[in-house]
Amino acid sequence: MRAAVVREYGAPDVVRVVDVDTPVPGPKEVLVRVHATAVTAADSRIRGARFPRGFAPFARLAFGLRRPRRTVLGNTFSGVVEAVGDGDKVAGFAVGDEVAGTTGLRMGTHAEYAVVPASRVVAKPAGVSHDDAAGVLFGGATALFFLRDKATVRPGTTVLVIGASGAIGTSAVQLAKHFGGVVTGVTSGASAELVRSLGADHVVDYTTTDIASLPERYDVVLDTVGTLSPASGRRLLPDGGVLLLAVADLGEILRARGDVRAGTSPERVEDARELLDLVASGALRVVLDRVVPLDEVVAAHERVDSGRKVGNLVLHP
Ligand SMILES: NC(=O)c1ccc[n+]([C@@H]2O[C@H](COP(=O)([O-])OP(=O)(O)OC[C@H]3O[C@@H](n4cnc5c(N)ncnc54)[C@H](OP(=O)(O)O)[C@@H]3O)[C@@H](O)[C@H]2O)c1
Repeated sequence: MRAAVVREYGAPDVVRVVDVDTPVPGPKEVLVRVHATAVTAADSRIRGARFPRGFAPFARLAFGLRRPRRTVLGNTFSGVVEAVGDGDKVAGFAVGDEVAGTTGLRMGTHAEYAVVPASRVVAKPAGVSHDDAAGVLFGGATALFFLRDKATVRPGTTVLVIGASGAIGTSAVQLAKHFGGVVTGVTSGASAELVRSLGADHVVDYTTTDIASLPERYDVVLDTVGTLSPASGRRLLPDGGVLLLAVADLGEILRARGDVRAGTSPERVEDARELLDLVASGALRVVLDRVVPLDEVVAAHERVDSGRKVGNLVLHP
């Protein structure tokens, strides 16, 4: 099969499209023909070995000390079950089923086929495209984790989303509205209309306004960019407010307590199901920056590295 392979850490051009052996599913695993996958900030961080301060030793242990241990990156997938490890049917999945999900640390979705534990696979609703399913799972799950698990957004909660045009931000704006929040999105002028169209009640242009000096106070501040420190973020909170740091170094995570919350979003099949159902119902729109074939994977990494991606970048292996 064809796959995007990363044999050394470095700039986007370390990624090569080559032929590799098609993986074989073991017991309780399925082989998925990948129709769509996302190239994400996580792929870019792993490929470039660029991890938040304090994380590098742990990340290198997890992903490979000198070079990537998992040479095929990519974590989200949407596709069709091609084979199952236990014969005809495993854990409710059969050949031909349309499925989606994430592969955790094993990665491997930037390829024509990926082997996935059946416990990580969910049925893709018929009304959701492969592109939307693969696109939503990374940023959507992170937005859910912060807005639902690390904070509570209820009707009337005021929410500031910094980085409202990114993968996390485009889902966060919509999920905060879905939970009843009054949302202010922080983006640059070019994406202001998009962020409004996602439901933001107010939009602030960070290129002309210093976010840390905003006079308003917000019950929940979600920083998906890493522009706020715990101290500067706290100044935006009223009593009882919560600062959510999606980008935090190890020290900030260890010190985060009380009104400052950080952490790493887990990958749960329940969340994947919930996100896909929200997309199917029309409550969540998946913003796609671009959809590219596998041969354009280097350009896809460059786009993610630029920090200018709008929503999600989808790859067709
Ligand atoms: N904690 C966790 O579990 C977790 C999970 C996933 C990701 N992350 C981290 O979260 C970060 C964001 O991920 P992502 O996938 O959402 O990123 P992304 O899609 O690459 O974000 C790109 C967007 O950020 C906007 N942006 C850049 N600088 C900005 C600023 N100063 N203020 C407001 N918006 C700005 C850009 O808009 P303009 O072009 O208009 O500037 C662009 O649309 C990454 O560092 C990633 O590693 C953390």
